[in-house]
Amino acid sequence: MNQPKKIQTSFNNRQILSLVKQYGSPIWVYNAKTINQKINTLRKFDIIRFAQKSCSNIHILRLLNKLNVQIDAVSLGEIERALLAGYKPEKDEIIFTADIFDKETLKKIIDLNITVNAGSIDMLEQLGKKSPGHRVWIRINPKFGHGHNNKTNTGGENSKHGIWNPELALPVIKKYKLHLVGLHMHIGSGVDYYHLKKVCSAMESCAILLNQNIQTISAGGGLPVPYKEKESPIDINNYFSLWNKTRKKISNYFGNNIKLEIEPGRFITAESGILITKVYVSKTTKNKKFILIDAGFNDLMRPVMYGSYHQISIITADNRILDYTRTMKTIIGGPICESGDIFTQNQQGEIEERDLPEIKIGDYIIFHNTGAYGSSMSSNYNTRPLIPEILIENNLPKIIRRKQTITELLQLEIDTY
Ligand code: LLP
Repeated sequence: MNQPKKIQTSFNNRQILSLVKQYGSPIWVYNAKTINQKINTLRKFDIIRFAQKSCSNIHILRLLNKLNVQIDAVSLGEIERALLAGYKPEKDEIIFTADIFDKETLKKIIDLNITVNAGSIDMLEQLGKKSPGHRVWIRINPKFGHGHNNKTNTGGENSKHGIWNPELALPVIKKYKLHLVGLHMHIGSGVDYYHLKKVCSAMESCAILLNQNIQTISAGGGLPVPYKEKESPIDINNYFSLWNKTRKKISNYFGNNIKLEIEPGRFITAESGILITKVYVSKTTKNKKFILIDAGFNDLMRPVMYGSYHQISIITADNRILDYTRTMKTIIGGPICESGDIFTQNQQGEIEERDLPEIKIGDYIIFHNTGAYGSSMSSNYNTRPLIPEILIENNLPKIIRRKQTITELLQLEIDTY
């Protein structure tokens, strides 16, 4: 696979070098301008709701709040993040989407009166018993799904998500006088037009079958972004027009104006972010070349988890000009003590070398389109602290998460006895 000379990015080399000089390596960097641009392409939808699991830093959430984007939370922690970012539960600025409640989360939801998008009938029961009349959505499993990977397919009989027979939710809703506000379908991440048409028509028939006085339908998230060099961006107008037709049909059927909501994560932040890493080792085995960097799969997990492809660019430390006419097959790996800690691999976990120019120790390797499911999926595996996050707003870099210290990381255990 050939690596193009120039990768489309909103960051330039000078800026990247000055960031590593200031904040070290590895670091996550986001550009607010790109986030803003992506939001603007979605303005035709009545409500844009951000799936914060994709990038949950509270400063990113604050930025989105200023841009009039509402928020989806999937855990108590995500509710707390949304509150810290200034979101108000009473105006449905926060909606809790999940398939289960734990005790603490349910209490918070009831105390703050947060609208719930229920993915199971048991949730409706548990909520209704304690908070009759609560505002709810139901998340419907349309009995099919689609994802960029089996692990991101959220519909069909193999999915734990959503309600399989939504008509069985109605007696529970009635029993507790729950206020059914909307219907929601999210079939997975990386949706294509074929599946989109199917999900639109499933929404239409489901709304008619249930025949409830709903106010809103949600198209869920899943809008793809071009990760690979040859992929093109999704046509949002086409995406909107398919959903808008569905909304109109449902509105006409019920004789009232149903609102159309969309709930992307990746589409909003993926392209705004990069991961900057530094090269520490260059080694060869029989006939393979390995470049080892200071970020591991505890930082960027997507390649290991799904075989995800992130474009790679190189910035030289010694100002040498990269020679793209003489590339070599290169494997990029991290510092984790596990052989799978390889950023250049496919869905089967097999190594996929990239054709890259000569990389030297001290150079920087940049992973592109890592603004979604990058930092938010990081872990402390190998007792590695979480790395800093930087947001560039109006050309000014601001640190929005400092590096975790090893002392902080160990404190959870030191505190026990
Ligand atoms: N709404 C619901 C109910 C979801 O479950 C998700 C994602 C989204 C919206 C946002 O999906 P997006 O627009 O970001 O594709 N870690 C995986 C993605 C898992 C997505 C889980 N749910 C990845 O790195 O690709």
